[in-house]
Amino acid sequence: MSVDGIVVAIDGPSGSGKSTISRRVAAHFGLGYLDTGAMYRAAAWWCIRAGVDLDDHSTVAQLVREMPLEISTDSAHPTFIVGGEDVGVVIRSTEISTRVSAVATNLDVRAELQRRQRDVIAAESGQAKTGHQAHSGGRGVIAEGRDITTVVAPDADVRILLLADEEARLARRAREVHGTVDEVSLAATRDQVIRRDADDSTVSNFTTAADGVISVDTSALTLEEAVATVQEIVSAASTRS
Ligand code: DC
Repeated sequence: MSVDGIVVAIDGPSGSGKSTISRRVAAHFGLGYLDTGAMYRAAAWWCIRAGVDLDDHSTVAQLVREMPLEISTDSAHPTFIVGGEDVGVVIRSTEISTRVSAVATNLDVRAELQRRQRDVIAAESGQAKTGHQAHSGGRGVIAEGRDITTVVAPDADVRILLLADEEARLARRAREVHGTVDEVSLAATRDQVIRRDADDSTVSNFTTAADGVISVDTSALTLEEAVATVQEIVSAASTRS
């Protein structure tokens, strides 16, 4: 199998490095890149902007079903456009980071976004169906999130769970969000990362590898080492039969 049309599924908790690693590996192989967390963030933004109570499950689910979301999977410029508005920056705000779990743990929202994720993966990998005909010749895709290896793409060609110990995950997120790793930034990050992962893990298992999923512990790896490790796994899969 060559890398063309390959589907790579990558899961992991906050701070495991999955977004940065996935994006770099996608760029290296010329694959599409789908950040499914950004879809949950876009959904939270859309519902907050509509002024709905995020705990009102059925209204939130209905709004998300109606959300006009356009996605670019270009690894150089991944974009998320909701109702004509580029939400790439606003969905990274502290407000969205704090409130997104309420939307991501809504099972009807998950069903809708998982369906859209499968559509993107199918289109990118050349599996999209028009009528009864399957297209061929997609470039392939790396999709990352919390439930890609288990629910969204359990048949992916490569399935990887990225793990890192709590200390490493907190330090990475503190550096990313606050630009520094000290007591204050670690405390602020701890609340967000640990509480959010605890909430999110009520609906997906992203801490233990399912059967056939390769786990990679990135705690002691530099970003470059982690990228190289994932690249080797993808290369090995692409040269097998
Ligand atoms: O990876 P992230 O921080 O951008 O994810 C945003 C939220 O979406 C977070 O609460 C986890 C959730 N999520 C999910 O439940 N399933 C996914 N496949 C991806 C993200």
